[in-house]
Amino acid sequence: MALEVNMSASLLILAVLIVSSVCTAPRALAARELAGEDAAADATMAVRHEKWMAEHGRTYKDETEKARRLEIFRANARLIDSFNAAGAHSHRLATNRFADLTDDEFRAARTGYRRPQTVAGARGGRFRYENFSLADAPRSIDWRKKGAVTGVKDQGSCGCCWAFSAVAAVEGLTKIRTGRLVSLSEQELVDCDVYGDDQGCDGGFMDNAFDFIERRGGLASESGYPYRGEDGSCRSDAADAGAASIRGHEDVPANNEAALVAAVAHQPVSVAINGADHVFKFYDGGVLGGDGCDTELNHAITAVGYGTASDGTRYWVMKNSWGKSWGEGGYVRIRRGVRGEGVCGLAKMPSYPV
Ligand SMILES: *[C@@H]1O[C@H](CO)[C@@H](O)[C@H](O)[C@H]1NC(C)=O
Repeated sequence: MALEVNMSASLLILAVLIVSSVCTAPRALAARELAGEDAAADATMAVRHEKWMAEHGRTYKDETEKARRLEIFRANARLIDSFNAAGAHSHRLATNRFADLTDDEFRAARTGYRRPQTVAGARGGRFRYENFSLADAPRSIDWRKKGAVTGVKDQGSCGCCWAFSAVAAVEGLTKIRTGRLVSLSEQELVDCDVYGDDQGCDGGFMDNAFDFIERRGGLASESGYPYRGEDGSCRSDAADAGAASIRGHEDVPANNEAALVAAVAHQPVSVAINGADHVFKFYDGGVLGGDGCDTELNHAITAVGYGTASDGTRYWVMKNSWGKSWGEGGYVRIRRGVRGEGVCGLAKMPSYPV
């Protein structure tokens, strides 16, 4: 099989050379070099894919699947390499563990933000920080340093980013209110908050999750109702049910990063974003500037701080739920103060528990 492929490849090269030979000599040389370079690039990419597989402990069921995954890896690697080579960006991309997934596979498994159909009417209402003067806001804040952020979690292959985003915001508020940092249960939301737009691993919406936690009278701890990464039936016997409770949610006014600063100055805030674009999913570090990222919302993360880089670039610090190996130890810094919908749409739909 491999021999056949090699033979047809050589025949093709031969054919190119024959055609080329009727052209001028320099062009014939160029064609030969080009064919050689392509073959070398193919071999290099196959080696890179093998190395990547070893690094990420990836195995495939057979050679057909491996060949298919190599093609996806190649396309992603080229995108990543050309982004990094352009040099004009304030963040870097890497062939991280998502590098052999198609866009569709990635969206299904790793995102899960479901923007409700009725949202236009549902959003708005009271914004408790509306009269907070930005002159009083700290120049930077990092809720991690204030002990209000639990360790980075990993949603696995379940599209429930919405649960992780909401839980991180509730964990933050609970610490600020009570002085206790308790890791809380995403699985309880996945299993029990199955109303309306909230559909477990098939996606959901943070505002609904906050309101659900209020109705349920609180959320269990992570250890009381551990994460399983798949849809399950709702349990009411969790060891410490109601470990944290809230009274619903409020929305940050849309497309208003100043309002978002006012909110994040007070507590971690849930943020919907375009997390499926390659500039986000392959993010490896730096301040994500948003070039080439549109503002379609499909993922949810949590704003846990903001600051200003040494070169004056203002940024948000956001907690993601793709494990610690992604981005800056599981976090992403994203450019702040971009007019309108914000980088990758981050200013469109932020909300927080109260
Ligand atoms: C903000 O100030 C206005 C005017 O004083 C007042 O009517 C409004 O209730 C205040 N908003 C909040 C959330 O306190």
